[in-house]
Amino acid sequence: CSVRPPSASSSATLAPGPVTIEAPGRIGGLSQVSGVLGCQWGDEGKGKLVDILAQHFDVVARCQGGANAGHTIYNAEGKKFALHLVPSGILNEDTLCVIGNGVVVHLPSLFKEIDGLEANGVSCKGRILVSDRAHLLFDFHQEVDGLREAELANSFIGTTKRGIGPCYSNKVIRNGMRVGDLRHMDTFPEKLDLLLSDAASRFPGFKYGPGMLEVEVERYKRFAERLEPFIDDTVHVLNESILQEKKILVEGGQATMLDIDFGTYPFATSSSPSAGGICTGLGIAPRVLGDLIGVVKAYTSRVGSGPFPTELLGSGGDTLRSAGHEFGTTTGRPRRCGWLDIVALKYCCQINGFSSLNLTKLDVLSYLPEIHLGVAYTLTDGTPIKSFPADLDLLEQLKVEYEVLPGWKCDISSIRNYSDLPKAARQYVERVEELVGVPIHYIGVGPGRDALIFK
Ligand code: GTP
Repeated sequence: CSVRPPSASSSATLAPGPVTIEAPGRIGGLSQVSGVLGCQWGDEGKGKLVDILAQHFDVVARCQGGANAGHTIYNAEGKKFALHLVPSGILNEDTLCVIGNGVVVHLPSLFKEIDGLEANGVSCKGRILVSDRAHLLFDFHQEVDGLREAELANSFIGTTKRGIGPCYSNKVIRNGMRVGDLRHMDTFPEKLDLLLSDAASRFPGFKYGPGMLEVEVERYKRFAERLEPFIDDTVHVLNESILQEKKILVEGGQATMLDIDFGTYPFATSSSPSAGGICTGLGIAPRVLGDLIGVVKAYTSRVGSGPFPTELLGSGGDTLRSAGHEFGTTTGRPRRCGWLDIVALKYCCQINGFSSLNLTKLDVLSYLPEIHLGVAYTLTDGTPIKSFPADLDLLEQLKVEYEVLPGWKCDISSIRNYSDLPKAARQYVERVEELVGVPIHYIGVGPGRDALIFK
């Protein structure tokens, strides 16, 4: 085991190769309806696990969010695919991919993704279904997203400016438009006119000029034609699949700490990336949910504004960022980085009831002589705080108590058996399990499909 500087991190050098993962208890043994959800502030590496598990499921479904998710997966030849709306099961040719009612769909983005996949030999026809209840996200939603962030000035949320919040706002105030509206082009212009006029009256910066509606309606007539073979009543499809004993894997976007209810509100996303969002975003009953796997990075990262108790400022954070290549997949924005936060992780496990965890990017920590774990929060006077607080001021002021564990200072990216990991790495994994009370069944040691240890 040799020491490796952060700049030579395996995430930059490891070429993913053709591989079929077999570990019956950890993959084949998962429940009929299982889910993979993010435990932190997103970018935990959910896409890789979903891609690996998808080989063993008949259906992979997205239940919330939109093109603000950015999953990176590799095919058997090591080709990289960045997916935003299409579920990560698409590379497995027998898997049906469902975009559920809880998702907000920007059709130009969806078609661009489908074109990219098909140009690389991945067939999408008949393999992607889009719920007729899913909401349509228009270009104007993206414009409004930017205007709203500008209006908030210094208190901006740090959204991806992809229009997700404005589209969900329309859904909730009940003037949104759904995929099913594409089947009623007679009433489509009138509904869209109302939406655009509403945006123009609210945001003076949004110019709703003559001819805009007509251009957009023409564009959507073409989209409607192209989307028609993909549209379905996915609530019915999924429930029928359950009756037919097909296996369904739910792919969460974003993560619990960004949940509209449980996240660090208002620095949150506009949907429910937690367990509850699976039922509301797909129309399946809570009792059918089986194994839920939480994906947690061996450290923490966060994009945009908002509290981050274990954040590492200065050179410590910079080194971790470059070791983990923590820059936004599409925007290239540097992510804030810090230690693993056990208080936040326990809170997330309570909310979701995970059956197991996937600890990702353990390889990134290999350069550190010692590793900190944020194990408790206290007030500035030392009074313990018993759970993850809702109060943003408190979150900004609290003190984090750390436990310091030894690092392993060697490259672990080619290790595939848990027992072959250095003792200090195993100690880290087992201490996290012990503190959180949920077993870690999967450990990521590199970006490739094969760089996974089953424990
Ligand atoms: P969001 O839904 O947007 O939160 O994305 P995500 O959670 O699916 O994250 P993504 O798939 O974009 O993964 C983040 C990055 O980490 C990708 O570049 C992955 O290839 C990489 N990655 C995943 N697992 C590991 C790992 O164990 N080690 C290393 N070094 N990289 C990993």
